[in-house]
Amino acid sequence: MNEKQAFEVIRHALKPRRYEHTKRVVEEATLLAERYGGDIEKIRLAAILHDYAKYRSSVEMRDKVLKDSTLPIALLDYGDELLHSFVGSVFVKQELNIDDEIVLSAIRYHTTGRASMTLEEKVVFLADYIEPGRTFPEAITTRELSKQDLDVACLESLKNTIGYLSNKSIGIYPDTFQAYNDFVIKLKKRGG
Ligand SMILES: [Fe+2]
Ligand SMILES: [Fe+2]
Repeated sequence: MNEKQAFEVIRHALKPRRYEHTKRVVEEATLLAERYGGDIEKIRLAAILHDYAKYRSSVEMRDKVLKDSTLPIALLDYGDELLHSFVGSVFVKQELNIDDEIVLSAIRYHTTGRASMTLEEKVVFLADYIEPGRTFPEAITTRELSKQDLDVACLESLKNTIGYLSNKSIGIYPDTFQAYNDFVIKLKKRGG
């Protein structure tokens, strides 16, 4: 599937506001890839498709978790906001016939992150958080950090997300904590 086809699929799958968000994520991901590397074609395709399942019903996504053995059953204990990324990667694979693991995993972990993220996963994860439509102060601070250090910016977004969710007593998926710890340890080692 080329980019033009992917954009066309997404334009139909999403509401206009979410489609505009997607275009900004693709632009932001492109800038990050130019700065930090990664497979730019795969990053852009993952960015285009990252919210493919955003408007699927809760019932459909939960049903998919129950039926698809590649999806952790623990997902059902968390909100739909988290489901769309995991289930979305399975729908992208099965409905759009995209088999590339680099693309699929960047979609799968774009909300939670995980330990040992690939470069492509980091870029899509961060681009989704800092695209210019995100105007809350934490996103602006993280966008500034993203100009200096990809890992520091990823850690900042994880810290913000964990703080935000815990303040609201919303469950936090283990991958997010594992991503947080992974970046903390890695950055500490790097700092000497
Ligand atoms: Fe998303
Ligand atoms: Fe998104």
